Amino acid sequence: LKARMIVDKSFRIAEVDQRIYGSFIEHLGRAVYGGIYELSHPSADENGFRSDVKDLIRQLNVPIIRYPGGNFVSGYDWEDGVGPVASRPKRLELAWRTVEPNEVGTNEFIQWAQEVGSEVMMAVNLGTRGIDAARNLVEYCNHPGGSRYSDLRRSHGVEQPHRIKTWCLGNEMDGPWQIGHKTAEEYGRLALETAKAMRWIDPDIELVSCGSSSAGMPTFPEWEATTLDHTYEAVDYISLHQYYGNRDNDTANYLARSMDMDHFIHTVISTCDYIQAKKRSKKKMLLSFDEWNVWYHSNEADTKIEPWSIAPPQLEDIYNFEDALLVGSMLITFLRHVDRVKMACLAQLVNVIAPIMTENNGRAWKQTIFYPYMHASQFGRGISLMPVVDSPKYDAQDYTDVPYLDSAVVYDEAGEALTIFAVNRHLSEGLDLTCDVRSFEGYRIVEHIVMEHEDLKAVNGPGEEKVAPRSGGSSKLDGGIVTAQLGKASWNVIRLR
Ligand code: AHR
Repeated sequence: LKARMIVDKSFRIAEVDQRIYGSFIEHLGRAVYGGIYELSHPSADENGFRSDVKDLIRQLNVPIIRYPGGNFVSGYDWEDGVGPVASRPKRLELAWRTVEPNEVGTNEFIQWAQEVGSEVMMAVNLGTRGIDAARNLVEYCNHPGGSRYSDLRRSHGVEQPHRIKTWCLGNEMDGPWQIGHKTAEEYGRLALETAKAMRWIDPDIELVSCGSSSAGMPTFPEWEATTLDHTYEAVDYISLHQYYGNRDNDTANYLARSMDMDHFIHTVISTCDYIQAKKRSKKKMLLSFDEWNVWYHSNEADTKIEPWSIAPPQLEDIYNFEDALLVGSMLITFLRHVDRVKMACLAQLVNVIAPIMTENNGRAWKQTIFYPYMHASQFGRGISLMPVVDSPKYDAQDYTDVPYLDSAVVYDEAGEALTIFAVNRHLSEGLDLTCDVRSFEGYRIVEHIVMEHEDLKAVNGPGEEKVAPRSGGSSKLDGGIVTAQLGKASWNVIRLR
């Protein structure tokens, strides 16, 4: 099978906002307790945070981390998580039916995020709470001093304001599972009024309005249209969330799911632009895809967890090789939409549907999906170029005309580097790729990284990396044309300089 691509310097989509390589830590399962934080772990720092986990997060170079939820935030009283740890309450956590010990809260998390090199994307509770708690949290975090909540922060030993820039106005408020679920009208009004108050405290913040919990919600995309009718001028981004699974064990269909994601992004952009037209607004709404991943392996196990324990092993998907291919394609999809998608959060970061796993008091290890995420974050910064792709196609259960070759290209102008990300979706045949890069005169191939495995269901584990990338792919460059053999079912990163 043959596929062709043309990549040209002038086919620019937009500059990649590095925040598309964001992630997410929720107070859920073992993400915080037993994940990033474990007082008794041999690698714990003076604040109880695991250094081995920090090291792995640094390898991913995560620019922004959403916190503290997720469904958790819709029942969270942020005041429970600040001040002396000994006097913080244990609370029944209704979203995941656990007990929240509140040993980690706003200040500890923000300091930890700084140590791993990330900004925090902070979510406020618009489920059980509203304008008042949200404005107080902005005052606590961002106001320098001389007022009730800023002085409370200072009394907690944090003299300088955190200056959190990005704030989510609640989480998945369209979902009946959400504590304080709202109709689009109710949410639109509340989000607008909360946005106003938060911005009056700190005009420099950026706000994310809740979009639909997935493209499959019955209220999608009416939810976007109705809520944006209220919030359009008051917010900067609308959120998108989407998870996929291979429940029917139909891998050809599963690997085409990124086409569904592409369609979802198109629909949200169209809905935003419709509201822009309706309002005769000059403003373009931007997109924050702040929850995305594969999530289904752990669904069954989660039904067996007893309620009201602290940090049970919830949502601990163990990812296989084919999941890594889809994650690669989802990253490729973002890169092709960087003109509107400015933030995205791989949900989540540690233990909970995550690229990084830990053993309690033991090892930390990398799941299969760690690698495409790391490659994109490492090499996918610069200008995203739109490749012209000519690929053979297939039909799957839910999709027609699925190109076997899925690709995105990033040009780092300053570093004079070009990176081609490519997935071959064919499950039994390699693809002979020719890629015209003649506008990049004098470039050489630096490396062709490949991730492939005979067994699509192969997984990693503590101390056991069955699925990992290797250098030494077959790319050659001659007369401005790259030729490469992309192995069946493979993830490829072809780097030129
Ligand atoms: O990421 C896990 C959960 O998925 C989040 O808490 C929620 O927002 C979504 O439904």
